Amino acid sequence: MPSLLHIDSSPRPDSVTRRVTAEFAASWRAAHPDDAPYTYRDLAAAPVPHIDADQVAIMHRLESTGVRDLGVARDAAGTPEEKASWAVAWELIDEVLAADTVVLGVPMHNFSVPSTFKAWFDRLVIPPLVVDPGTGMGPLSGKKVVVITARGGAYGPGAPRHGFDFQEPHLRAAFGMVGFADDLTFLNSELTKSAHVPRLAGFKEMAAASLTAALDSARDLAGATGDRPGADR
Ligand SMILES: Cc1cc2nc3c(=O)[nH]c(=O)nc-3n(C[C@H](O)[C@H](O)[C@H](O)COP(=O)(O)O)c2cc1C
Repeated sequence: MPSLLHIDSSPRPDSVTRRVTAEFAASWRAAHPDDAPYTYRDLAAAPVPHIDADQVAIMHRLESTGVRDLGVARDAAGTPEEKASWAVAWELIDEVLAADTVVLGVPMHNFSVPSTFKAWFDRLVIPPLVVDPGTGMGPLSGKKVVVITARGGAYGPGAPRHGFDFQEPHLRAAFGMVGFADDLTFLNSELTKSAHVPRLAGFKEMAAASLTAALDSARDLAGATGDRPGADR
């Protein structure tokens, strides 16, 4: 059964990334059976606690003993404090393991990702999820991952800040570590600040075209996902 995990991280209710991830999720749900599992997580409304000493201690033990089995890793917490911390990580891990498609809303914050998103990812990546160096494969390999970003400015070739996009390259590298980059698509809406910054007002048309392209691609990607390609949406 196809399944979707939908995660938002913008602090803004009327956010661009929320609009595009919602379009993706609506199209995906319309293209799949009514009972296809759908899970939603809002990292702004319910931030994941930062990784702590207890989770790091468990992860160091897993690394030093070379544990790659997820079942063994799941039971690796010792003290009550470790068990509480490990439970935070496993709630997130289980959501990702259960999904075959993951759509992530990730605004650009200071040329990178929001701290709430980083906190989620730091909790998620435990040693057995890292791809096996021999095979290049891991438990998350092969999932369809769609990252929906929004940026106040522009970062393409020719833009003054071309080269300042540390968001997409960071995510491609980090996701590659856990096999999350095998089927990875970025949909970037740019120049969103033209809506409220007077000196950028001349870029409103470019911003609208960028958003329209992201929405169109989101619908296409969502409709092409899973076992009913071409279904009405
Ligand atoms: C804390 C913060 C940092 C930001 N940093 C950048 C930045 O480095 N580059 C940029 O182009 N826009 C930046 N922006 C603007 C956002 O990327 C822009 O508003 C985008 O639309 C956010 O996505 P959202 O609409 O889904 O919230 C920043 C906004 C905030 C709130």
